[in-house]
Amino acid sequence: MNPAHPTAWLVLTLTAGAISVIFPHGATAFPNARGPYFTTIEGPDTVTAGEVSEFTCTAECSPECTYTWSVDGHTNTSPTITLRTRGLTSTVEMECTSLNPASGKTSSMKKSLRVENPVSVRPAAGEEPSLNQSFHLTCVGFAQMSTIEWYKDSDILVMDAQTTLSADNTTLSFSSLLPSHSGLYRCVPSKGDTVIVSVGYLLTCGPYFTKIEGPDTVTAGEASEFTCTAECSPECTYTWSVDGQTNTSPTIIVTPSGLTSTVEMKCTSLNPASGKTSSMKKSPRVENPVSVRPAAGEEPSLNQSFHLTCVGFAQMSTIKWYKDSDILVMDAQTTLSADNTTLSFSSLLPSHSGLYRCVPSKGDTRIVSIGYLLTYGPLSVNISGPDTVEVGTEYTFVCESNCEIPCDIYWTFRQGFPSGTYIQRRTVINWTPDTPNRDQLFACVVENTYASAMATKLGEGR
Ligand SMILES: *[C@@H]1O[C@H](CO)[C@@H](O)[C@H](O)[C@H]1NC(C)=O
Ligand SMILES: *[C@@H]1O[C@H](CO)[C@@H](O)[C@H](O)[C@H]1NC(C)=O
Ligand SMILES: *[C@@H]1O[C@H](CO)[C@@H](O)[C@H](O)[C@H]1NC(C)=O
Ligand SMILES: *[C@@H]1O[C@H](CO)[C@@H](O)[C@H](O)[C@H]1NC(C)=O
Ligand SMILES: *[C@@H]1O[C@H](CO)[C@@H](O)[C@H](O)[C@H]1NC(C)=O
Repeated sequence: MNPAHPTAWLVLTLTAGAISVIFPHGATAFPNARGPYFTTIEGPDTVTAGEVSEFTCTAECSPECTYTWSVDGHTNTSPTITLRTRGLTSTVEMECTSLNPASGKTSSMKKSLRVENPVSVRPAAGEEPSLNQSFHLTCVGFAQMSTIEWYKDSDILVMDAQTTLSADNTTLSFSSLLPSHSGLYRCVPSKGDTVIVSVGYLLTCGPYFTKIEGPDTVTAGEASEFTCTAECSPECTYTWSVDGQTNTSPTIIVTPSGLTSTVEMKCTSLNPASGKTSSMKKSPRVENPVSVRPAAGEEPSLNQSFHLTCVGFAQMSTIKWYKDSDILVMDAQTTLSADNTTLSFSSLLPSHSGLYRCVPSKGDTRIVSIGYLLTYGPLSVNISGPDTVEVGTEYTFVCESNCEIPCDIYWTFRQGFPSGTYIQRRTVINWTPDTPNRDQLFACVVENTYASAMATKLGEGR
């Protein structure tokens, strides 16, 4: 038994049967040579590891043919062979060639045998392998064997401080499982020439402790490296998902554009042998050095000029401008400086309001700046009208607001609709109360795309 060449030793033994064939030499001695025809293999379709099976090759042949067997690379010259597989493979390929010694003609037949292996390695009932826990493997399915040996990954098992064998070698015990214990375990019971290599048991470990190594803060436009690791045997594979994109590799390079303030990343480690997975998430913060700034001291105001500048980058070849996530469409009031760093408005219009970003780029490096929201001052809203009202008298309430860009304006009556004669024309309400001692709450809401505001007024009834 040489562990360096396990397959030659482990696969099968092939012996010639009792019949030996002697045939005369010289083709000319048989001028009426026939065949071979109908080369046939006689024998079972299924063999059992460790048990002997017989196969005979026949052919119609005159004079008598000779037969050559080839079984998994072993050859034998004899009509009948006996075969004993050791269970390492689940099939055995055999071929018999009959040869008419007079004519030199040949004919072949192939057969594929299924191998049943009664011997296997099983974990103790209810046990699942787990790191730092005890574990037991038992060799089952054989009878009357004199020795049992254990193999791991096709080498003879080397015992360590955590492993012990029972006196009869049927049970292999691990006092505490280590990552190094993972592998394919087989037991090999034998007696004399009978050797059976069991069906294997694959002991896997992990993934445990899936970790993402890399910075907590990244910079827009700069490449950062992240590595995913796990305790895993056999070696895990790693799948990254970064802002919706996937990548299969332990290490990835992330270059954030600056459009988001964090990068959402997730790594999943997969043990390819067991199919077990484990995941870890990380959300590094994105620092963005590039921003859009109004010229010093300028506040946006309708019909006034205004300037926005792209700042915070170095050595970029082109700069593009975006408004509300679309490329900026220039109009009669807007111009760009020659290098695109400054966007000038000769006279601000309501349609100029929006979120402005600049995007400097050079080759593959592209930074989306922090945005500047161009609006026309904070919204404010007032309701004018009396604080106290009397039954039978008409009162006027007016909602006043400072909308420079178009606003939606509406009234709400959360504590009840006014009782009496009531007329509403957009911002103006005319009301003649009809119920004494009843208070009426007016609320006016003003909103546009960028802001909203609300004013309330209580009319105390008399
Ligand atoms: C296993 O034991 C080692 C050393 O005793 C310890 O560092 C490790 O955290 C343990 N792992 C688990 C999964 O319990
Ligand atoms: C048990 O295994 C050891 C090491 O593989 C071997 O030397 C010994 O002969 C075996 N004993 C039995 C009873 O199988
Ligand atoms: C802006 O200009 C338009 C047309 O020239 C004018 O109707 C409007 O009142 C002006 N608005 C302000 C706030 O100056
Ligand atoms: C300036 O912007 C325009 C329009 O977005 C673009 O076509 C041009 O390439 C830019 N030039 C520079 C120097 O960035
Ligand atoms: C709200 O009312 C106050 C006081 O009457 C007035 O100074 C202010 O300009 C009004 N604001 C608006 C937006 O109407």
